[in-house]
Amino acid sequence: MSDAPRRFATRAAHAGLTPEPTTGAVIPPLHLSTTFERDPDGDYPRGYVYGRTDNPNRRALEAALTELEGGSEAIAFTSGMAATAAVLRALDPGDHVVIPTDAYHGLRGLLRERLGPAGLTWDAVDLAVTGSLDAALRPTTRLVWVETPSNPLLRVTDLAAVCARAHAHGARVICDSTWATPALQRPLALGADLVLHSTTKFLNGHGDVLGGAVVAQAEPGQTIVDRVRAEQRLAGAVPSPFDCWLTLRGLRTLALRMRAHCEGAARVAAFLAAHPAIEAVHYPGLPSDPGHAVAARQMSGFGGMVSARVRGGAAEAMAVAARLRVFRRATSLGGVESLVEHRASMEGHDTATPLNLLRFSVGIEDPDDLVDDLGAALARVGG
Ligand SMILES: Cc1ncc(COP(=O)(O)O)c(C=O)c1O
Repeated sequence: MSDAPRRFATRAAHAGLTPEPTTGAVIPPLHLSTTFERDPDGDYPRGYVYGRTDNPNRRALEAALTELEGGSEAIAFTSGMAATAAVLRALDPGDHVVIPTDAYHGLRGLLRERLGPAGLTWDAVDLAVTGSLDAALRPTTRLVWVETPSNPLLRVTDLAAVCARAHAHGARVICDSTWATPALQRPLALGADLVLHSTTKFLNGHGDVLGGAVVAQAEPGQTIVDRVRAEQRLAGAVPSPFDCWLTLRGLRTLALRMRAHCEGAARVAAFLAAHPAIEAVHYPGLPSDPGHAVAARQMSGFGGMVSARVRGGAAEAMAVAARLRVFRRATSLGGVESLVEHRASMEGHDTATPLNLLRFSVGIEDPDDLVDDLGAALARVGG
């Protein structure tokens, strides 16, 4: 048998799967027990004690995520936001965090409403312009939070450049890579210390599990990873065994699904970019996109998310969404079925998202059907 390093699709299909020793089952059984037997001498020879601290299904999912991101450890949570909160709570009061101006709105909300008042300080800068980081760094900056491509404007950050500047300053870098997935982008290999995922999205891929994870390239003395693990075990926002099992099942088709998402999104973006009812398209796969060159360098595909601004304004954008038949009107993303969302109205009154922006999560349907659907919905804009 060859020992050659295996390609991503092969690793994704096998990651976290070790045949179950008693039966030989290839697919892992579901371990629902919340507690594990202790030996008469008090030992736990099989390594499991209690379901909050560890569980075989969670361990398998964490092993798979560690392998696919090329990390040394993964820590699974009940949602992407639980993972986000665990990372930020691993910092100390008085620490400073730099976040991107365009990022999942929950990040800013958590800092503004909970962790800012508890003592964290933070600034938002456009990290897609690498030089803008320098002015934001302070002596107390412990963490630079990157999200690339970003939600909802698909801003692309040069990970290697930001990591070099942050590290020179003594700060750590986390990359929310939810929109890329390890199928398309490996932030740890580009210098990031931590990767964050909402596994709710492409990693599970079927719209039926909420989850999150932090994957680390831990070095000795890097306390942040230990603290995130402690948050998981002590604060207890742990995913259920079934959630882990389902997410691991989703991961096995990740490579295949991402190919279809990328193909569909490229068609949708090109179609929208050429349509007179569309004012602007945000998709790093378009050569005209400001993030195209960096994305082409640091990603192996441009992803399944596209945002577009409809000529006219919020009412016109809403009307287009209302006329779509294949795209479903719903928040969230990364599932096999295409979704459309009027993003600003979802984010609330203080949103900076343009009011005429529609965000498309492009599924794995036949791209011709997606383009036909968009064509019909856009035909009546301004009419
Ligand atoms: C980029 C990104 N990060 C984090 C989250 C939050 O994840 P969750 O909804 O699983 O808490 C989302 C949700 O949309 C997201 O798009």
